[in-house]
Amino acid sequence: KNSAHEKWKAAHTFAASYYHHLLLNTVEGEQALAYLHERGIDEETIKKFQIGWSLPGWDNLTSLLKQRDYNLSDMEACGLVVRQEQNERYFDRFRGRIMFPIMDEKGQVIAFSGRILNSDADEAKYLNSPESELFQKNDVLYNLHNARMSIRLKKQVILAEGFLDVIAFTRSGIDHVVGTMGTALTQNHITRLKRLSTNFVFCFDGDKAGFEATKKAFAATEAKQVQRTAIVLPDQKDPDDFVRTNGKDALTKIVEENGLSEMAFTMLYFRKGLNFQNDTDVLRYTENVLEALAKFSSPIEQSYYTKQLADEVGIDQSVIE
Ligand code: CTP
Ligand code: MN
Ligand code: MN
Ligand code: MN
Ligand code: MN
Repeated sequence: KNSAHEKWKAAHTFAASYYHHLLLNTVEGEQALAYLHERGIDEETIKKFQIGWSLPGWDNLTSLLKQRDYNLSDMEACGLVVRQEQNERYFDRFRGRIMFPIMDEKGQVIAFSGRILNSDADEAKYLNSPESELFQKNDVLYNLHNARMSIRLKKQVILAEGFLDVIAFTRSGIDHVVGTMGTALTQNHITRLKRLSTNFVFCFDGDKAGFEATKKAFAATEAKQVQRTAIVLPDQKDPDDFVRTNGKDALTKIVEENGLSEMAFTMLYFRKGLNFQNDTDVLRYTENVLEALAKFSSPIEQSYYTKQLADEVGIDQSVIE
């Protein structure tokens, strides 16, 4: 089994350097390269994350793997190739996509995610390697390998959703960041991160999904002996959008200065979409906040946020208490 895994990793390492080469050094990679440049990603970043390009043809990687004596049904098991049911032919899983290699904690490539160039297409924006013995999404965090040392030094870890969000942070000089790749934060993730730091900063997308992800991340880390804060980015932006409109310094500043406690985030969460001119909304909000306060706040926090609540809804603090 172990030697099978070694083969899988070797094949992934080979595929990563092949895709990377196609992006940087070939005419076929030019369009993807231009797209990345347009998104502010320079050559240095492409190299740091070993970003690549998969050709749109059916079996470019497959033939190379075959030439190198990789067993194709084995390559199917680790997700690099897929098999056509009818004629039992193998072809490339990733075709015509920008390739993000996903590394384990030691820096070995264990999976890929491929982004289509044109997000308007019908296909999913990102196509991922399937789950295998090598790659379990609930156990892997994007960029953990690169970020380990910085997380230790900074005594903090920033959690973002997307590949390009992690990249946006590092381009802004913030290296202690990992990506959940759009999935929920799991107990495995938390255990891995806690070995490096117990100070978590959630910086998910500023849209509805990111808001929900933040709420769930607070819940998942409840009573786990970690300190947590959340950054809520304006205008539904994700960190990558934010850097591109507001600049690197603005991202650094918002991360350093605008961390919300669980209670402050929860209040913002309940406030979303409500209208305080409306009595029902005011009462619903007040009840939600009071319930949350009872659930996870210290006495000091309770009196602090009760005051804030009183100010927000215009009910006397003594009544709320
Ligand atoms: N994701 C995925 N499969 C999808 C969509 C998203 O695995 N079909 C994961 C990817 O890791 C992605 C992350 O969830 O980076 C966040 O998704 P989203 O916010 O929709 O994408 P962005 O990262 O903002 O993508 P981009 O900036 O490239 O448009
Ligand atoms: Mn998102
Ligand atoms: Mn996003
Ligand atoms: Mn998006
Ligand atoms: Mn984005």
